[in-house]
Amino acid sequence: TLGANWEEKSFFSLPSLSQRETLFSWWEDQPTETLTKMADEVCRKTYGNKVYLRGLIEFSNECFCDCLYCGIRRSNAKITRYSLTDEEIIETVKRGLQRGFHTFVLQSGENRADLPERMTKLLFTLRKIAKEDVAFTLSCGVYPREVYREWKKAGAHRYLLRFETSDPRLYASLCPGKTLDRRLQALEDLRQEGYAVGSGFMVGLPGEDARTRFENVLLCRDLRLEMVGIGPFIPHPDTPLGKEGHKSLPIEFTVRTTALLRLFLPWANIPATTAAGSLHPRGREMMLEAGANVLMPNITPVEKKKHYLLYANKICLDEDGWECLSCLSLRVASVGKTISFERGESVLREKAQ
Ligand code: 5AD
Ligand code: FES
Repeated sequence: TLGANWEEKSFFSLPSLSQRETLFSWWEDQPTETLTKMADEVCRKTYGNKVYLRGLIEFSNECFCDCLYCGIRRSNAKITRYSLTDEEIIETVKRGLQRGFHTFVLQSGENRADLPERMTKLLFTLRKIAKEDVAFTLSCGVYPREVYREWKKAGAHRYLLRFETSDPRLYASLCPGKTLDRRLQALEDLRQEGYAVGSGFMVGLPGEDARTRFENVLLCRDLRLEMVGIGPFIPHPDTPLGKEGHKSLPIEFTVRTTALLRLFLPWANIPATTAAGSLHPRGREMMLEAGANVLMPNITPVEKKKHYLLYANKICLDEDGWECLSCLSLRVASVGKTISFERGESVLREKAQ
């Protein structure tokens, strides 16, 4: 079966720790330093000291959802909406290819009705520009399975769609008109269509607790995710959660959750996220120390990226993505790892192919 080997190597296949309750209190009791050390060891066993780079292109901040935490929610009339043209996206990818990137992530707000056809055409063009060894990852929300199929045929390989929280009631209360079930169905559809599947969640949403975070990690494992993106919830002033005065949890919570993720999913590609870097100056480094092995420099054209504000105090807004590259290699070196431009498939997937 898929990844059976990796499961055996996973720390948590140890029989004495196989019970949920035991695991949960074990996790609660461990000092962060211990968790970090263990996770780092597993990460280095799987991925060595490599940190894979993904060029992130936030191609549109138009969104048809109204999630209470998100700065680009439909009801936020204060932001400038933008959509990159196909030419702008192609130009950005070309620059990325010249710089040696082998993965691009095309991300946008969710559920645009006009996206399916446009994206199919764009992918055909991008496929002509990029060699076989370049991977395209999409992250544009929930669509019917047939749409995912078309995009796969057109040349997409991977898809990111965070489930945000594993608590269905919390999910429904934060994302009006949406259900966790539908989102999980979309992840299943993507799996069936042959994508490498990525999901993830926020750490510290109002209404969650340590148990929720633990269950979030278990759900990632149940879903056999190739990629897991997590980051701290950071309030945005022009959202309902921001106005209610909610605060972020300290970075330590994200670090502890990252470590647990790595221990449970030794095979996964786990990015050190921009949200972590925005909450704490060493946030991304701390995630890299605790089992993360991916960075996603934001290569969105600099005049547009300031409008893609999901949360407050987002970093790197004035830097060109290409400037971030040199900054990132220093940061990565500071934790004893090194940047890799390889395509960086999940080892789970390498085994399956
Ligand atoms: N704080 C942190 N992360 C956020 N996201 C959306 N809003 C926020 C916020 N206020 C995350 C969600 C989404 C991803 C693209 O960004 O998890 O899936
Ligand atoms: Fe963007 Fe450091 S990573 S400026």
